[in-house]
Amino acid sequence: MAESEKSSALSALSTESRAFPPSEEFASQANATADWYDRADSDREGFWAEQADRLHWTTKWDTVLDWEPPFAKWFVGGELNVAYNCADRHVEAGNGDRVAIHWEGEPGDSRTITYADLQREVSKTANALTELGVGKGDRVAIQLPMIPEAVFSMLACARLGALHSVVFGGFSPGALKARIEDAEAKVLITSDGQYRRGKPAPMKENTDEAVEGTSIEKVLVVKRTETDVPWTDGRDVWWHDAVDGASDQHTPESFDSEHPLFILYTSGTTGKPKGILHTSGGYLTQSAYTHHVVFDHKPGESVYWCTADIGWVTGHTYIVYGPLANGATQVIYEGTPNTPHEGRHWEIVDKYKVSIYYTAPTLIRTFMKWGEDIPAKYDLSSLKVLGTVGEPINPEAWMWFREKIGKENCPIVDTWWQTETGSQMIAPLPGVTATKPGSAMRALPGISATVVDDTGTPVGNGEGGYLVLDKPWPSMLRGIWGDTERYKDTYWSRFAEQGYYFAGDGAKYDDDGAIWLLGRVDDVMNISGHRISTTEVESALVSHPTVAEAAVVGASDETTGQGIVAFVILRGSASKDEAKGEEAIKALRDHVSKEIGPIAKPRQILVVEELPKTRSGKIMRRLLRDVAENRDVGDVSTLADSSVMDLISSGMSESK
Ligand code: WTA
Repeated sequence: MAESEKSSALSALSTESRAFPPSEEFASQANATADWYDRADSDREGFWAEQADRLHWTTKWDTVLDWEPPFAKWFVGGELNVAYNCADRHVEAGNGDRVAIHWEGEPGDSRTITYADLQREVSKTANALTELGVGKGDRVAIQLPMIPEAVFSMLACARLGALHSVVFGGFSPGALKARIEDAEAKVLITSDGQYRRGKPAPMKENTDEAVEGTSIEKVLVVKRTETDVPWTDGRDVWWHDAVDGASDQHTPESFDSEHPLFILYTSGTTGKPKGILHTSGGYLTQSAYTHHVVFDHKPGESVYWCTADIGWVTGHTYIVYGPLANGATQVIYEGTPNTPHEGRHWEIVDKYKVSIYYTAPTLIRTFMKWGEDIPAKYDLSSLKVLGTVGEPINPEAWMWFREKIGKENCPIVDTWWQTETGSQMIAPLPGVTATKPGSAMRALPGISATVVDDTGTPVGNGEGGYLVLDKPWPSMLRGIWGDTERYKDTYWSRFAEQGYYFAGDGAKYDDDGAIWLLGRVDDVMNISGHRISTTEVESALVSHPTVAEAAVVGASDETTGQGIVAFVILRGSASKDEAKGEEAIKALRDHVSKEIGPIAKPRQILVVEELPKTRSGKIMRRLLRDVAENRDVGDVSTLADSSVMDLISSGMSESK
């Protein structure tokens, strides 16, 4: 993050002095108590061993942690089946009739799935996947809408010891292909189409393009929208043919605690996404633990709803693994929040009496824009805990959430974590922690996080720096798929001497020692809580025949947190004036959308003659960010040609 940006963020935050202590009523019934912090500090491994007892192990571990930095093994020697933990054991405990999933389709259809149903569906899917040749250690790619089959597919993989690699439904064929190739996936699970804002959109056409020429042997296709699809005999199999008729009996095998569970790709600072690898025992332990304490989840009582998409880590940990390991009753909603009307979420809260609602700041800001009279029309009195994730939440949005949705009666848990951390790391404990609007407060019991300066020295209260994790944690990533060097380089080289995990986020302590997250310090943007690297978008832009060079920055955006602003230099013949017109810019925006996906579409593209570069040829994004955010351009003395910035700034004001 640019220095100027960081200090302005710091000064904005230092004016925030409101704090909301938990009510006595909430505190008296909370799952966690204040002594957990000390208990975990005095015996970390003992504390995590207790948390691992939340799960069913077929063989108990003999060592809690084996730490050879930067490689950790948790619950060494233990064996379990993750899917058994998420379905069968609840049935065996007599809770087969409890609703696991209240599924709500976008067009208004719905489906109720009990734990007994879940066990049967997952078993059938596991049997069908076995028939298709999937076994232990194989990789299965999944690109599906938010339908129950997505959950069944993920758990069926887990049941078989196969790794799933879920790819967000909005990603382009090219992005899906790259992920299939990197993981050498054998089977792809997809659907005919998906509902987007009330209309079916094709899906299989895109996935067909993606699997062409890859290692994919079979494509399992769920019928969701009754869309006509191209079909390849011998490769494509309908879900209803393969799964519906399969046996609903399946004996789960036990796998080592460190057996890989899934790969999930996320943007790094280069154009190539990283396949983040997670394993079984530690991941499930911390997912179940955090879901239990951070949301104060009460099995059989709470109705939980996480609004994330299953294609992101939040959907993995807080729709599939955490809640289902805890026997939760949850809502899964297929569609967009304004289909068919802007009150859809509140209608669903009211319909299912949702008590825990976990969402993203960008959506809260969107709700604010739509107006408080919309949620006011619904009965939201069932709500008990509200959560946010994905990006720093600004105090205004936090207060709006508290007042208009929580009616000043629900603790808000702002949860900081990453694809790499697997589950929540920094968050208040409802019923224990007094919360401040905009702060994730402190590391959870059992987790250790510190803010350090450039040299790795911890900073004091009131000071800012880099967020690091200074002790291993059970759900930490175990590596980057196929690239150990990149794993060491990306996360462990910045503070190698101290052995800290470098999260890539800026943070500060306030005067009371609470942690405030300040956004990424690297070239990763955060658009509506989704990570996209500047390089990824730049590569997409330069792959267009008219573009010679591109520089991309994330500029602050009222709704999406950051918006993508691109500066492009056009090629010789295209650089004529008419090419700078709206048509050409639209073509470039569409091109990025096609290459990566609609979430990566630049908010603004500016055609420029030159880019600001240092004498060594490095693009100075800091200056471009100043332009994109309408700030006075900072120090230009290191530029090879300082007049470049005047040209760009004047072009920016013309384009408005
Ligand atoms: C950001 C999402 C501030 C952060 C779970 C992190 C946050 C990146 C918060 C990870 C939060 C996530 N406050 N920033 N509560 N939660 N972030 O991998 O920059 O999609 O590094 O995981 O999102 O994004 P990812």
